[in-house]
Amino acid sequence: MVTLLENPLRVGLQQERTPEPLILVIFGASGDLTKRKLVPALYQLKRGRRLPPEITIVGVARRDWSHEYFREQMREGIEDFSDGIESEEVWKDFAEGLFYCSGNMDQSESYQKLKAFLGELDGRRGTMGNRVFYLAVSPKFFPEALRQLGAADMVNDPMKHRLVIEKPFGKDLSSAQALNRVVQKVCKESQVYRIDHYLGKETVQNLLVFRFANAIFEPLWNRQFVDHVQITVAETVGVEERAGYYETSGALRDMVQNHLMQLFCLTAMEAPNALDADSIRTEKVKVIEATRLADIHNLENSAIRGQYSAGWMKGEQVPGYREEPGVNPNSTTPTYVALKLVIDNWRWQGVPFYLRTGKRLPKKVSEISIQFRDVPLMIFKSAAQQTSPNVLTMRLQPNEGISLRFEAKMPGPDLRTRTVDMDFSYGSSFGMATADAYNRLLLDCMLGDQTLFTRADEVEEAWRVVTPALSAWDAPSDPASVPQYEAGTWEPSEAENLINQDGRRWRRL
Ligand code: BG6
Repeated sequence: MVTLLENPLRVGLQQERTPEPLILVIFGASGDLTKRKLVPALYQLKRGRRLPPEITIVGVARRDWSHEYFREQMREGIEDFSDGIESEEVWKDFAEGLFYCSGNMDQSESYQKLKAFLGELDGRRGTMGNRVFYLAVSPKFFPEALRQLGAADMVNDPMKHRLVIEKPFGKDLSSAQALNRVVQKVCKESQVYRIDHYLGKETVQNLLVFRFANAIFEPLWNRQFVDHVQITVAETVGVEERAGYYETSGALRDMVQNHLMQLFCLTAMEAPNALDADSIRTEKVKVIEATRLADIHNLENSAIRGQYSAGWMKGEQVPGYREEPGVNPNSTTPTYVALKLVIDNWRWQGVPFYLRTGKRLPKKVSEISIQFRDVPLMIFKSAAQQTSPNVLTMRLQPNEGISLRFEAKMPGPDLRTRTVDMDFSYGSSFGMATADAYNRLLLDCMLGDQTLFTRADEVEEAWRVVTPALSAWDAPSDPASVPQYEAGTWEPSEAENLINQDGRRWRRL
């Protein structure tokens, strides 16, 4: 019998691959993630012929839905949140593999019922007992769902069963460790796929290619040439309708511990020995192990939080965070975080990494910029109005691409210089839109490729790095002590100081 792990096409990131027949079970099937992201991504994979004909999707949630109603809901999701249904024939084929099974996350009977249903589907659909269980539920259900799956012997075969766990993985170091222990009790690490959707972004994956498939950048990628690195993930949206979740999370948990730390790792890690999951993940862990906040005793020198106050976005007045529905008017939850990280290793000693992320900032933009050192001696003193050091920028979104900033002579008889950019853009070079991160991640997980998923030790190390800031900000504090920034502006002045006091400035994007 063919099992998930015997797929000979599984290895390597680049080949065109198709997973073995399997059932993907989505817990949390009535939720937003399933409708907006997961099922539209699966549909696109199906349309692109990346899935086997037997592919079967079973949605599980508490509500008492029929298979037919589930299919209607999912169709609505595809129409509203992706590029729609182009072909009724493909939809029909896809919809025939969509099923729904109601159940409670904490009741063993629900798992028994699901198990029997999956067994029945194996017979009908030829899915051979292969399963991927996707936990797209509120994190408070993770431990119970894992225990129940374990007790029902549903994840006991490492060759046939996989588990996908959405973020957030824990809410601090100790809860992440506890969750890892539950995971390790019921299955092996090789079965576990911890999602960080940033790793599925095309441009994030390109970081590895850019660094390790080109010979000319790597020799410059160190303390000898790099002055500092800035990683920015700015959003224009506010808390939206997610106050319930966000109030217990905040920017440090929601964005920094996972998405920004992943960008940081891929920028700072050493070259892996090979492109397999463990070689890459081992290098990521090594670099986080050497990373810490620049000054844990004086947090104002290494971690700044902020909260948006009322302001203007695109000509419209928007409320401050504390005025948003569902938010405590005295909330101290940060919607903005800036960190200064240092890495105690040979490559990066003395090179600070500044990370910042926030909601209600003026622009949606994510980028990594490597700021090189100044020239050792400026011989164009009289010619230069102002010269700037070279900057290599990797734009993750929007306008995905890479640019290198350097000085050039302006045309004309006078010796005058100007800063110019050499630019690569995904759109114009490849002429195609980049796929949604979930397409890639779902496919990889079905193929058994863990490269773009975080390993247990990696998640824990990322929590360790942010722990001093978390502990300080989780402690009860005077709401007036949380720095405010007006919606539609870049950051609180405290975050300006964080970098200005080192004689540097945040990039204006
Ligand atoms: C999610 C966070 O993980 O990432 C959200 O929970 C955030 O708060 C989102 O808005 C940002 O993702 P992207 O892909 O739009 O940059």
